[in-house]
Amino acid sequence: MTPKSALRLVGIGGANRAMEAEVKRLAKRGLEAWASPKPVREDEQTLVYPFDPAFAHLAVNYLRTPSRVLWDIFESEADRLEPLYDDVLAWMKKAGEGWLESGLGISIRARDVEWFPASRTQIQGTIKNGLIEGAKKRGIELALDSEQPDILFAVRGTKNRIVLSIDLGGVHSNHGYRKDGDRAPMRENVAAQLLILTRWDPRKDVLVDPMCGSGTIPIEAALMARGAPLWSKERPAPCAKLPAFRAFKNHPLEPLFADADPIIFGNDIHGPAIAAARKNADRADVSDSIALIEGDFKNLGPNQLRAHSPGGRGLSLDQGLVLVNPPYGERLEEGDEELERLYRDLAKWASSFGPGWKSGFLVTHPDFESIMGKQARMKKPVPHGGLSTQLYVYGADG
Ligand SMILES: C[S@@+](CC[C@H](N)C(=O)[O-])C[C@H]1O[C@@H](n2cnc3c(N)ncnc32)[C@H](O)[C@@H]1O
Repeated sequence: MTPKSALRLVGIGGANRAMEAEVKRLAKRGLEAWASPKPVREDEQTLVYPFDPAFAHLAVNYLRTPSRVLWDIFESEADRLEPLYDDVLAWMKKAGEGWLESGLGISIRARDVEWFPASRTQIQGTIKNGLIEGAKKRGIELALDSEQPDILFAVRGTKNRIVLSIDLGGVHSNHGYRKDGDRAPMRENVAAQLLILTRWDPRKDVLVDPMCGSGTIPIEAALMARGAPLWSKERPAPCAKLPAFRAFKNHPLEPLFADADPIIFGNDIHGPAIAAARKNADRADVSDSIALIEGDFKNLGPNQLRAHSPGGRGLSLDQGLVLVNPPYGERLEEGDEELERLYRDLAKWASSFGPGWKSGFLVTHPDFESIMGKQARMKKPVPHGGLSTQLYVYGADG
């Protein structure tokens, strides 16, 4: 039985680099004191920091790149249900700082526990019993509430250990604005990851997503530029009721870079996609930063961008980023030849912007670089939607 206290950020694919960069950017602005601890990189998509309530509050409320934000509190080497129950009970004699309080409803979800000689449901039940019984012995009432728990416990089996965490952000990759989708929407935190990997600088770079579908990349970009919170008073984070976060109850969740004024374009050939993107952008409250245009990307030149500039702002096109997640083929039923022609057209179009522009393409095609006719400056797997997608970055940044 080992008590723990660590903040675990879990992302998709090789998200570590992007998550670490995002932590640095936001902590510098959002925390009064930040010692910038070096996280343990547990694998390609997991960063582990020492637990600190102010940092955890920032992570849950502002980080856009992780899929999960977890507070690890306990691990057990028990290899059967009975010793696991005893371990939880023994740990509960002293545990609970920052989360244990009478009247809270709890729910337990286990994953990656196939190696343990009991079913997932049995493991969940055993841990629940240990938590409720252990609290009761100290005169504290916890109750099971699977529907709307105040504390969502995440249990995972790793390296023959059972690790118990509090899931602080729930499905953290759902950023709350995307109720309208089109055919192959990208996960919000993948879009955030791409923006960091391509080093989009919202103060200098115009952003163009020529095939934006339901608008995930443009909307994430606008929100990221502002350092907008993911949660609000009306839609509080799943961990808002925990005693550890009570000190922040009256901290308003304001954007960290409220004065950011990014210029972003989203374009798509499919009318319903643009209609969905408009609704999503309105819901995210970023419509004033994004121009959404319906049409073939081939018609999207400097004149059209100038004519649609968000808020009619004057537009310098000296520097920018084209970031795009074009059709992959597998999903959108396109023949390879047609797809390759589309990619070649896209490459030609993207390179028509000036030398201050860079471009990032998230695709599955194994010969993407030969279709593009040049090697990418950076190539990075960003697995997405069960596919082996890679991000290829060209131009600028040397
Ligand atoms: C993989 S989806 C993009 C999904 C998007 N990132 C999202 O999160 O919703 C590819 C998009 O490319 C669009 N598209 C295909 N051919 C196009 C063209 N010639 N011009 C503009 N958009 C095009 C499709 O309508 C589709 O919405």
